[in-house]
Amino acid sequence: MTGPDTNTKTIYLDNAATSWPKPLAVVEAVTRFLVYCGGSSGRAGHRASRDAEQIVFTARTHIAKMLGVDDPHRVAACFNGTDALNIAIKGTLSEGDHVVCTAIDHNSVSRPLEAMAERGFITLTRIPVGENGCIDSADVGSAMTPATKLVTVCHASNVTGVIQPVVEVGKIVREHEAFFLVDAAQTAGVLSLNVEECKADLVAFPCHKSLLGPPGLGALYAGPRTNLRPFREGGTGADSENPVQPSELPTRLEAGSTNVAGWAGLCAAMAQLEPEKTLEHERGLLSQLTDSIANVEGIHLVGNPDHRQRVGVMCVNVDGYSPQEVAAILDESFDVAVRPGLHCAPYMHRALGTFPDGAVRIAPGPFTTSDQIARVSEALSQIAIVADGVSR
Ligand SMILES: Cc1ncc(COP(=O)(O)O)c(C=O)c1O
Repeated sequence: MTGPDTNTKTIYLDNAATSWPKPLAVVEAVTRFLVYCGGSSGRAGHRASRDAEQIVFTARTHIAKMLGVDDPHRVAACFNGTDALNIAIKGTLSEGDHVVCTAIDHNSVSRPLEAMAERGFITLTRIPVGENGCIDSADVGSAMTPATKLVTVCHASNVTGVIQPVVEVGKIVREHEAFFLVDAAQTAGVLSLNVEECKADLVAFPCHKSLLGPPGLGALYAGPRTNLRPFREGGTGADSENPVQPSELPTRLEAGSTNVAGWAGLCAAMAQLEPEKTLEHERGLLSQLTDSIANVEGIHLVGNPDHRQRVGVMCVNVDGYSPQEVAAILDESFDVAVRPGLHCAPYMHRALGTFPDGAVRIAPGPFTTSDQIARVSEALSQIAIVADGVSR
């Protein structure tokens, strides 16, 4: 996989928000679509429209294959991870339902659920996260009631990167006949997720993080047990005489023109993905960073230190500075891009004891080099030494 020549000295470590740079093939595929095709998918019989439809179908096929799904029509094209999660949650739940969610959840899961609970539409049980950064699948079973319609689990925390026991949870959820929604935002593209194996009915994820697609893309897998209500309604390019949204997938969950340029880029990215290699590379970089800051006084890794249990995401804090200050110094003085704060995961930071300031998130990507990590470690050490000097 080749990255484009970005001609920048910036060390980009915010891949958990969105990956950058994208592979050169992605840039080329987007450009090729915009220059030579440009049609709207499924909206006309002319060649540009048919070619655009084929691009979107190829993207669905790549995603279906990644999840072990036979029918690509069960993959809906969405705008981002939040969109996919909203479609899954709001299309599933009815008044009086009970939902089990976790302390690991991102606000794109928590906020829709909390808003429904606040207006008395659903009841909600949030299960805790243990010291090792994992939920206990037994807690899911204990929290479920006959009214439980949905259980949501984040495949890996976007704060600590720690991977969650989705296979065990899936078995428990299926015994209770509820639906199981997996938020695979931080794992799609680096960690396999087979929907049969983990008994997932719904899998939602952005395609612009480890899947390396352009921004503005997400996807939702809706399994055969589900019957989601449409989330948005409108033009589908076919079945136009139907006064309401068609019931077939994926059009039941898709309305309006889609981002074909983006899907063209995703097809190119997915044809080149090397999940195992990338995961190993990113874990290696995090180990390198942890080892090199281990003896620097005042720098703390937040949460579980075992990199074998995480995807390429970890958080640190530096004594004497807020996470926002550390990130600003890294940006302004060292040209290093990291993300400070709560990472849209306030319950997780409460569990870690880092609420309300949060932490500094470090998320390398497939193009991050060992040399760049060495420079980041040096930068963090300098910040910690200055903080130490100031506090004395
Ligand atoms: C765990 C998790 N879920 C959901 C999302 C939402 O994805 P998006 O930013 O594409 O809406 C994110 C994004 O950071 C995430 O980390």
